[in-house]
Amino acid sequence: MSTVVIVGTQWGDEGKGKIVDFLTERADVVARYQGGNNAGHTVVINNEKYILHLIPSGVLHKGKKCIIGNGVVIDPAALIEEMDGLREKGINVDDNLLIAKNAHVIMPYHMAIERESENKKGNKKIGTTGRGIGPSYTDKVARYGIRMMDLPAPDIFREKLTANLSAVNFLLENLYKAAPLNADEIYAQYMKYAERLSRYITDTDVFINNEIDSKRNVLFEGAQGTLLDVDHGTYPFVTSSNTIAGGACTGLGVGPTKINKVLGIAKAYTTRVGEGPFPTELKDELGESIRQKGGEFGATTGRARRCGWLDILILKHAIRINGLTGIALTKLDILDGFDKLKICVGYKYNGKLYEEFPKEIEVLTHCEPVYVEVKGWKESTLGIKEFDKLPANARKYIKKIEKMLKIKVQIISTGQKRDEIIVLKEQF
Ligand code: GDP
Ligand code: IMO
Ligand code: MG
Repeated sequence: MSTVVIVGTQWGDEGKGKIVDFLTERADVVARYQGGNNAGHTVVINNEKYILHLIPSGVLHKGKKCIIGNGVVIDPAALIEEMDGLREKGINVDDNLLIAKNAHVIMPYHMAIERESENKKGNKKIGTTGRGIGPSYTDKVARYGIRMMDLPAPDIFREKLTANLSAVNFLLENLYKAAPLNADEIYAQYMKYAERLSRYITDTDVFINNEIDSKRNVLFEGAQGTLLDVDHGTYPFVTSSNTIAGGACTGLGVGPTKINKVLGIAKAYTTRVGEGPFPTELKDELGESIRQKGGEFGATTGRARRCGWLDILILKHAIRINGLTGIALTKLDILDGFDKLKICVGYKYNGKLYEEFPKEIEVLTHCEPVYVEVKGWKESTLGIKEFDKLPANARKYIKKIEKMLKIKVQIISTGQKRDEIIVLKEQF
């Protein structure tokens, strides 16, 4: 038995969904531990594309238990829409979905506040996904939050809603000069959601710890990535949760002694959606060609992802902060056909060379990346399943990364589909 945390090592969209789906074959339970429907995890099976936002990416395997943990913020409308969408494609989550009682609920006023505050920030905006994630976590920490267990308790729900809305409406009307929201409408809408979702709401911490004690294989699915972590990312251009491996403990109620492995998902290059610094960003045709070839458009918002070279400082930071035991390198095939590839090994700023990822936004914004250049490969790697069949220069690229990072690449993904993968070390 084993427990494995799947964590993004960059700014999200590293291909976590594909790897979680692949590893679920041998898992019994898959549990999301943070974030909300800001996430978009893509899984492609037999040319059919599924984008999961809240439901763990293991759901596409029959009979696996899927948990939405207490660390997740849940928009009930988005969750119901996702369940219905899956059902239309023949996937029934009914017997396998468990939702944490103590997960917080995203309310319509969270989205309204986020929209107004992003607008007010103008060119200082974060470029959020607009799903109400930040304001929902704000309420959680400020201790005003409404939790999933409040949905089947109409009196408690109404009391909290009324109290929260009076404060929110004051802000909307007076600070943002925006229209107030109506408590009765929200109440009626959320009571309908309660009818649909109550049956899934339970003590997921008890369930998951029992599964671990019964020696089952458990996958913890992270959303976003290390550099979007509210503590260890490029603050303030981050999301509002702990995206890192430690988030699996707080976001599910699982002790650190119960975690066996942490697999970091790293794209063979780097992407970012939204605002904030990105030292290796390619703002030229090269960046555009990676974007087109890699289909680098947001799975949640459709926004174009910014693209750039692989950054060793970022990956070293991710190895450290998450305690990674291995790396899954994804989208290797997108680098096919380049004459040369660059790998960033340092930043220069104000005459100083940085070899560890700096925390200052000023440094990250204005530094100059220091690159080593390696030879590319002309052959296609798409769908290759054995390491030895990769072009020699692709093997060299991977070996070089391993040497620089002092960690093993345990999985290499060579395409969107489930079986387009090279497994060098099994996780379960
Ligand atoms: P996530 O948020 O980390 O799950 O990643 P996304 O699903 O947002 O973005 C990753 C995209 O890359 C998706 O469209 C995947 O289908 C795709 N993808 C994942 N691995 C590979 C790969 O090895 N090769 C190619 N070409 N596409 C991949
Ligand atoms: P997955 O799980 C990439 C980014 C947003 C924005 C910042 C804050 O698919 O990797 P938020 O709505 O969370 O308050 O936005 O975080 N962001 C993501 N970027 N992948 C994601 O999820 C993301 N979720 C949020 O673009 O810059
Ligand atoms: Mg994504």
